[in-house]
Amino acid sequence: MESTIPRHVGIIMDGNGRWAKKRIQPRAFGHRAGMNNMIALAEHAQKIGIEYLTVYALSTENLSRPKEELDGLFGLFRKYFTVNVKKLYVENARVRIIGDISALPEDVGKILKEGEDNSPPDAKFTLVFAINYGGRNEIVNAVNRAVERGEKVDKESFSRLLYTDGLPDPDLIIRTGGEIRLSNFLTFQSAYAELYFTDVLFPDFDKKEFDRAIENYSKRERRFGRI
Ligand code: FPP
Repeated sequence: MESTIPRHVGIIMDGNGRWAKKRIQPRAFGHRAGMNNMIALAEHAQKIGIEYLTVYALSTENLSRPKEELDGLFGLFRKYFTVNVKKLYVENARVRIIGDISALPEDVGKILKEGEDNSPPDAKFTLVFAINYGGRNEIVNAVNRAVERGEKVDKESFSRLLYTDGLPDPDLIIRTGGEIRLSNFLTFQSAYAELYFTDVLFPDFDKKEFDRAIENYSKRERRFGRI
């Protein structure tokens, strides 16, 4: 594939519920298919030279979904972060969590933290999980931290107060599932990201679809406000 590879890609993994409904299955079935697809895409992203992949696994707003659906998602997080994540370590991939994990069931928070802490710190590829993440909360918390410290901030020092401290801004944000909005994802960091929206539901957004998004990105001219 002839293309310019973005350094950091974010994915809003939308459409799992509708994918399951089309198959007359519970929403949890769609989330499981979504998780398996995410695993395949992360492997692919690493292979084609993307350095950072951020996946929106749970927004602060998603936390008000019915208990049954949340329990299903927490079950997937438990499984992924105790079993699958080890493959990432072997493949020399780092794990980062962004979001307020203190609001999750205690054992889930602990497993996520361990997943992050045990991953190789100098890896060439980083998989970032946005879990109970909300861009507005992230910004408000950062402002409060700056105020508490009595510090005046600039763009760089402010960035260091965000969950994404140390990560480059996303070059490309992909949203599957047909909605054309960012839904509180990387609100501060997405200022100059290229956006790619597709109707394809996340479990069907396979490597070929991912490559199509990268190909589309590579044809864009990024000017960052210059002429
Ligand atoms: C949005 O689709 C998707 C989510 C709220 C959850 C995404 C989570 C995964 C793909 C699993 C990730 C797993 C790990 C281990 C990080 P939706 O349910 O809102 O779909 P709909 O719009 O069709 O209802």
